[in-house]
Amino acid sequence: MPVVVLVSGSGTNLQALIDASQGNATPWQIVAVGADRPGIAGLERAESAGIPTFVCPVKDYPQRSEWDTALADHLMNALPEAHDGRRWVVSAGFMKVLGTTVLNEFTVLNTHPALLPAFPGAHGVRDAMAYGAKVTGATLHFVDEGVDTGPIVSQRIVAINDDDTEDSLHERIKVAERDMLVRGLTSLLSTGFTLSDRKVTLL
Ligand code: GRF
Repeated sequence: MPVVVLVSGSGTNLQALIDASQGNATPWQIVAVGADRPGIAGLERAESAGIPTFVCPVKDYPQRSEWDTALADHLMNALPEAHDGRRWVVSAGFMKVLGTTVLNEFTVLNTHPALLPAFPGAHGVRDAMAYGAKVTGATLHFVDEGVDTGPIVSQRIVAINDDDTEDSLHERIKVAERDMLVRGLTSLLSTGFTLSDRKVTLL
């Protein structure tokens, strides 16, 4: 099953996917990696693994809708339909909200560093700490038109320690997040799933 991964930063979630697909017979294969900015470690990781890349920066387009269309074109060029009839995209630390053109054509998964629906948005780790939560975690979910509001596939719980900094907590969350992402993607694409009334059930 072909998959495109979208990244904006260090790409350690991407690396976990690369490692899993190289080490085992995963039911999916990364056919391209896309980014919204050049010069990031995530793109270097893809290039080191011999995976084609593309860059589609928002600032290159006068309207957000034009960026959305351009991103959809990049994805369409890179990504054939899988045998379930879907075109699978993984947003792994991709820090842009996707528009309707992309969402109408592609099935997009996102990994978020908090236990949704708590603490959506760009600062999920910081917001959970500031709220005084004692646990947080990571969520793998389908992307819909809201911000981190789509149906949940999988979640992991991570305790918040009294001496945590945002960085130390985020690093611990990312350990759980990477495993959740690899296992979740593999489950969805190997056995299939149903989605009814927001509830995702693996078959
Ligand atoms: C992850 O925690 C992701 O959920 C968040 O940003 C982080 C990206 O990490 N949106 P990396 O680029 O995969 O290392």
